[in-house]
Amino acid sequence: MADPLRTEVNPSEASRIDDVRPAELSAAYYNTVCVIGLGYIGLPTAAVLANAGIKVHGVDHSARVVDIVNAGGIHIEEANLDILVQSAVTAGALEASRVPKTCETFLIAVPTPLTPDYNADLRFVFDAVDAIGPYLSTGCKIVLESTCPVGTTRQVAARIAQQRPDLAVPGYCDGPADLAIAYCPERVLPGKIIEELVSNDRVIGGMTPACAEKVAEFYRRFVEGQCLCSEAGVAEMVKLSENSFRDVNIAFANELSLVAEAMDINVWEVIRLANRHPRVAILNPGPGVGGHCIAVDPWFLVSSAPQSTRLIRAAREVNDHKAVHVGNRLKAMLNAAPDARLAVLGLAFKPNIDDFRQSPAMKIAQDLADYGDRLMIVEPFANQLPSALADCGAKLCEMDEAMEACELVAVLVDHELFKRIPPTVYQGKILYDTRGMWTA
Ligand SMILES: NC(=O)c1ccc[n+]([C@@H]2O[C@H](COP(=O)([O-])OP(=O)(O)OC[C@H]3O[C@@H](n4cnc5c(N)ncnc54)[C@H](O)[C@@H]3O)[C@@H](O)[C@H]2O)c1
Repeated sequence: MADPLRTEVNPSEASRIDDVRPAELSAAYYNTVCVIGLGYIGLPTAAVLANAGIKVHGVDHSARVVDIVNAGGIHIEEANLDILVQSAVTAGALEASRVPKTCETFLIAVPTPLTPDYNADLRFVFDAVDAIGPYLSTGCKIVLESTCPVGTTRQVAARIAQQRPDLAVPGYCDGPADLAIAYCPERVLPGKIIEELVSNDRVIGGMTPACAEKVAEFYRRFVEGQCLCSEAGVAEMVKLSENSFRDVNIAFANELSLVAEAMDINVWEVIRLANRHPRVAILNPGPGVGGHCIAVDPWFLVSSAPQSTRLIRAAREVNDHKAVHVGNRLKAMLNAAPDARLAVLGLAFKPNIDDFRQSPAMKIAQDLADYGDRLMIVEPFANQLPSALADCGAKLCEMDEAMEACELVAVLVDHELFKRIPPTVYQGKILYDTRGMWTA
């Protein structure tokens, strides 16, 4: 047999052989799902599936995560997730383990971080694929939900074909396939994940049309939105396009904020009035762009087509530069008032969540480490400061204490809790409000 990692099936041939054989699993495995990666995406998905009458075997590398889930608990903050996980575990519909087991469907939701040279690090995906390989049998569905560069689903299929030459793998076989392999990107909003997992439309990109249709059947068991079938490459690019769209539009707002600041104009008023135009909808600027999606995924397009992605690259650079600019402005404020302390409001990458990954607010605060004991940080979603901040003498405190002690205030995240502060509390202080929370 030819090396599947090198063999490409011509698409016209693939369409002629488009079929997936029915399951040969024993009845005990019908309606079972193995979810690999129990993080912000995998755990809510596992919980929603389990509460929809599907038997879920969750897998995570982390023994801590496995223990917490098996005890009916959660290790991340997400609205209503605790209730769903507890009821699923109590009902015996959700169990967690460090190793996969035979199931009808395998759903991969592991991280896909950026490498230092701005490529996708697919190690976790390939580890997950290698781990499920021994548990696959005819009729199984394998769904990749992790955000990936275009072509990754095909690489996943090639890897399975190499590991399991006994199975006919779609895209790498000459007749009907034994497996259905598809890509289905996740587009949920943290804070509303449980709701959006069910209500959002899903794009399901199959290795073949039959793969897409088989996997869509699975999603239709719990998704109320539409399940739209396409090719794997299209679905992969859909996800990257969505987040690049957001990044480019936020970059426009961030660039406007820099222009307005240089000219001493209130950017919030500019945007509010410009948006009265019937065909204009400018987004809100901020301290930069963070999180593991919008700040990362556009690079997957840039690295795949560097000559064709000038706008997407420029947007990434504008948004990264905004955080550097904010850090420099705050340093200037601290230098101009050497006896003053600075209240830093927020470290999370966006409001009302406990997620600090790629957070521009966190980067800005860490960039101020030289001013250590003059920093009073208010972050209701953190129990402690990261060592880079704690070691420099910065203090994590309540809003009252920070406002009492600080003459300078930087709004980096507009948490709901902050919005409730009466203006009398910050009146008279020198504000740098990156979110327009108090100055819009
Ligand atoms: N979090 C979001 O809002 C969001 C939204 C859309 C898409 N995504 C994408 O979904 C994917 C998962 O993101 P996340 O936020 O859930 O990540 P996460 O870091 O919260 O969780 C991933 C989990 O996978 C585990 N893990 C890693 N490799 C493993 C392996 N080989 N086997 C078993 N467990 C493994 C980790 O221990 C971790 O608990 C990423 O590609 C991300 O870009 C995330």
